[in-house]
Amino acid sequence: MACYLQPTSAFIPATATKLCLFFSLVVGLASAQLSSNFYATSCPKALSTIKSGVVSAVSSEKRMGASLLRLHFHDCFVNGCDASILLDAGGEKTAPPNDKSVRGYEVIDNIKSQVEKICPGVVSCADIVAVAARDSVVALGGCSWTVQLGRRDSTTASAAAANSNLPPPTLNLSGLISAFSNKGFTAKEMVALSGSHTIGQARCVTFRPRIYNDIDIDSTFKTSLQSKCPSTAPAGDNNLSPLDVMSPASFDNAYFRNLVAKKGLLHSDQQLFSGGSTDAQVKAYISNPASFQTDFANAMVKMGNLSPLTGSSGQIRTNCRKVN
Ligand code: HEM
Ligand SMILES: *[C@@H]1O[C@H](CO)[C@@H](O)[C@H](O)[C@H]1NC(C)=O
Repeated sequence: MACYLQPTSAFIPATATKLCLFFSLVVGLASAQLSSNFYATSCPKALSTIKSGVVSAVSSEKRMGASLLRLHFHDCFVNGCDASILLDAGGEKTAPPNDKSVRGYEVIDNIKSQVEKICPGVVSCADIVAVAARDSVVALGGCSWTVQLGRRDSTTASAAAANSNLPPPTLNLSGLISAFSNKGFTAKEMVALSGSHTIGQARCVTFRPRIYNDIDIDSTFKTSLQSKCPSTAPAGDNNLSPLDVMSPASFDNAYFRNLVAKKGLLHSDQQLFSGGSTDAQVKAYISNPASFQTDFANAMVKMGNLSPLTGSSGQIRTNCRKVN
């Protein structure tokens, strides 16, 4: 994938940034307090250290790139991008949408300990997760974006917020649109972000209803999935299948091509192309792959801006798994 188009947010001139900062003092726009050069003097090697950790983890296991991308999503949708999901206590990590499902905690721990060695107490776990998500997409062939930095880490986690804010795969199109609208995203941005499912794996328990109940599914695809995912729980619950049957380790637009072929793995995936209002956007991302990469990058920057803790709120955790 050639990445000629840059996300617009990468080019906010210094004067505009200052204006935004001034504006934020008046209206309290927390995300305007993040900046791409936040660690330029306090930890100039932060970004290269995170990148090395991601590149090494993804070269050992391609799926880890997908897992690190999802980790950022599941962090940001639950009380903002504050690394709350990394806390061992508080029940967020073991809430049903995350338990035995979200991966990558050890990779973040390793990166954090490398970063602590060079700049103790400076780089937040929330920023490490945000940068690792971007570096993962790039490691799997997607286009890059500039990560805004300066998030701080929460001192609390919330199982209740995880349960109510993370969209389940049983949602229909209107449920998906409203789950993302609740976080400030348009339906178009929801479709772009769902393109994340062009990488990674899902457990049988998450797609069993689709392969036994849905009718908008390719029959060969369905038969093959049923052979690996028995109809009655708990048999085969943890058996994995790729979210993108064509190229699960490439950050390309094959996810959307699958949807048109009725080969979406999750019920929620296929809902994006099922005769509803998002069909045209799915087709547009097939005919113009670069527009998917650009819209995805911009939506990721926006997701990364969800309710960050800044200034003196929260803390810089020493160990991402527990409060200081
Ligand atoms: C649109 C609503 C979404 C739903 C209903 C949904 C649901 C799911 C489910 C059920 C899985 C499989 C989990 C498991 O088997 O344990 C999954 C995996 C994944 N999701 Fe989503 N997701 C959504 C949006 C997103 C977004 C916005 C992102 C990232 C920005 C994302 C990134 C991923 C990735 C990369 C994986 C594979 C993870 C791995 O292999 O470890 N998803 N998702
Ligand atoms: C979508 O799901 C919601 C909640 O389950 C339901 O109320 C609604 O009727 C469904 N919409 C469509 C178009 O099926």
